[in-house]
Amino acid sequence: MDGLMTLDRPEEDAPAHAVTGTLYGVGMGPGDPDLLTVKALRVLQRAPVLVHFCKRGRRGNARTIADAILRDPAREMALAYPYTTEIHPEHPDYVAALAAFYDDAAGQLADHLGAGRDVAILSEGDPFFYGSFMHLWRRLKDRFPVEVVPGVTGMSGCWTRAGTPITWGDDVLTVLPATLPEAVLAERLRGTDAAVVMKLGRHLPKVRAALAAAGLLARAVYVERGTMAGERVIPLDRKPDDEAPYFSMVLVPGEGRRP
Ligand SMILES: C[S@@+](CC[C@H](N)C(=O)[O-])C[C@H]1O[C@@H](n2cnc3c(N)ncnc32)[C@H](O)[C@@H]1O
Repeated sequence: MDGLMTLDRPEEDAPAHAVTGTLYGVGMGPGDPDLLTVKALRVLQRAPVLVHFCKRGRRGNARTIADAILRDPAREMALAYPYTTEIHPEHPDYVAALAAFYDDAAGQLADHLGAGRDVAILSEGDPFFYGSFMHLWRRLKDRFPVEVVPGVTGMSGCWTRAGTPITWGDDVLTVLPATLPEAVLAERLRGTDAAVVMKLGRHLPKVRAALAAAGLLARAVYVERGTMAGERVIPLDRKPDDEAPYFSMVLVPGEGRRP
């Protein structure tokens, strides 16, 4: 971020005529802060309330991306998920706890917005692509003005760092969450030209098996923490273990038309 000014600037309160604040979903890009957009920087500079999601007791990744530019804790609000991996996402307790968490968070943000303060939610990658932001957006969009600032997606950062174009010619790209059952993954993989498999974590052995069943294992590339510190890129069939952190994905580049 050399050459970029520090963006913290205590916001003078919203103008007296402002009725409500605007809810911003700010795409923070895949990890490298240099991949933030100019528009994202502008919003981060101005918004009096900056929100990020995190695991309990941990810093959120979207917030880490902003380290180089934010130095004003008074503007910040962390929203700690009630669960992350402790309980299955389809378990009724998980669904109920998350719904209550998002309802409560939306209530807190509505207080700021109702008082005329803009609220910016820092979102990894792009806010509208598997983003937690969407759950607050859904709860608040009919009551307050909303602006979404698109970001460079994690997958875009990953295939760039892997040095592999993902689609050529008429290639069809399929994006799959690794949380799907193995048979569904294999079926979808068989029917596509190129694929991105996200949310790997403990699902990597299952993803490997599905790729093998679809005959795609030899083309698969594993990318961990793409564009971030600790980045790792390796052909999946040469990865010796099945360890995969949350920020990892498998890419299957297409092999379409190349005149
Ligand atoms: C809940 S999704 C959020 C996606 C995000 N909104 C985006 O636009 O990329 C989280 C998943 O994105 C993938 N991901 C995002 N950024 C990544 C990165 N820099 N390196 C590897 N995987 C990444 C991982 O598969 C992770 O499990």
